[in-house]
Amino acid sequence: MNYVQKNPLPIPEMGTHHSVPVQMDTIFDWEYALKAQQLMALYEKGKAGTWNATDLNWDQEVSIEKLLANRRAMSGGQSPFNRLLNPPVELSEDQITEFNLNMNAWMLSQFLHGEQGALVATAKIVQTVPNEEAKFYAANQVADEARHVEAYHRYLTEKLGVSYPVNTELGKILDATCSDSRWDVTYLGMQIMVEGLALAAFGMIKLMMMDEPLIQDITTRIMQDEARHVAFGVISLQDLYTHGALTPQEMREREDFIIECTYLMRDRLLMGQVYQRFGWDEDLWLKWAVTTPFMAAFRQLLFSKIVPNLRRIGLLTPRVRDAYEKIGILKYEHEKDSTEELLSAPPKEFLELIANMSGGQQAAPLQ
Ligand SMILES: [Fe+2]
Ligand SMILES: [Fe+2]
Repeated sequence: MNYVQKNPLPIPEMGTHHSVPVQMDTIFDWEYALKAQQLMALYEKGKAGTWNATDLNWDQEVSIEKLLANRRAMSGGQSPFNRLLNPPVELSEDQITEFNLNMNAWMLSQFLHGEQGALVATAKIVQTVPNEEAKFYAANQVADEARHVEAYHRYLTEKLGVSYPVNTELGKILDATCSDSRWDVTYLGMQIMVEGLALAAFGMIKLMMMDEPLIQDITTRIMQDEARHVAFGVISLQDLYTHGALTPQEMREREDFIIECTYLMRDRLLMGQVYQRFGWDEDLWLKWAVTTPFMAAFRQLLFSKIVPNLRRIGLLTPRVRDAYEKIGILKYEHEKDSTEELLSAPPKEFLELIANMSGGQQAAPLQ
C-alpha cells in the first residue's frame, strides 16, 4: 500500500507513542492437540472471511454536510435536532451540521483507537494463551485488526478530515487490558467488553448512516470480523469460570475488572472532547449527554451484546448483576449470546428509538 497521509490525527497529551509495561509468561504448546473444534471452525471461518481494505471504493465522495442537507430537505427544511434532542443551548442549522460531523468523527476516532487496542491486546493473547488452537485464531484476528485500523484511519483522514485523539476512559481500559499478565483478563477486557460494545455500536452506526455508502461498506465488513472476535472470547472463556478452576478471590478480581470496565465504557461515550473543541460549556453539555433520553438509551444499548455473553461465560454473578441492575443494563441478559448467534439484529428497542428520533424514517436519528 502506497499511502500519503492527509489530515493526520491530533496527537494526545501523552505524546506520539505510549508505553505500557507488562511482565507476562509467553507459553509454547508442544502438544499441538488441535482438538478444540469450536475454535478450529472459527479459525477456518476467519481465514475464509479475509477481505482487503484496498478493495473498498475510496474514490467515492463522502460529505456529511451534503448528507445532512439532504436529510433536512426530506424533513421539510429543518432538522429535528433542537426539538428531539433538547440541547441545553438552541443550535443554528450550521451549528447542528458541524456538531453532527464532529460527533461522527469523534465516534469513529474512538473506534479507530479501539481497533489499535485490539491489534495489540490480541497479539498478546497469541503469546500468553496456553493452547495452540487459540493461538491460531488470535493470530488470524491480529491480521483482521490491522485491516480495521487501516480502514478507519483512511476514512477519518481522507474522507472526513476531522478526527480526535483517544479519550481518557478508553485509554484506561486499553492500558488495563494490555498491562495485565493473566491471559483470560486480556480476553475479558478486549473480546468480551471492548469488542462486545463495538459490535453493538457498529450495528447502530449502520442504521444511523444508511445514506453513506462507504461507511456502510466498511462497517459491514468489520462487523462480520468483530462478531467472530467476540465469539472467540466467549468460546475461549466459557469453561474457565464455571468449573471451579478459579478461587473465590480470583473470581472476585474478574468481577471487579468487569464492573470497573463497565463504568469506564458507560462514561467513555459522553463526548467531552467535542464540547472542548467547540469551546462550549463542558459541564452543561456533559449533563445533557448523561440525561437526554436518546443519549442515555444509546449508551445502555451498547451493552446489549456484553450482558448475554457474560451470562454465557458464568460472570453474570450476583455482584455483577447488582451493578448492572443499578445502571439499567441487566435487561439484556436474555438476548442471544455470541455462541448462539454470531451477528444478531439490533434490539427492537433500538429500532423503535431510531424510528421515533427520525419521525418514522430510519436514517436520521442524530440530526
Ligand atoms: Fe476490529
Ligand atoms: Fe476485533
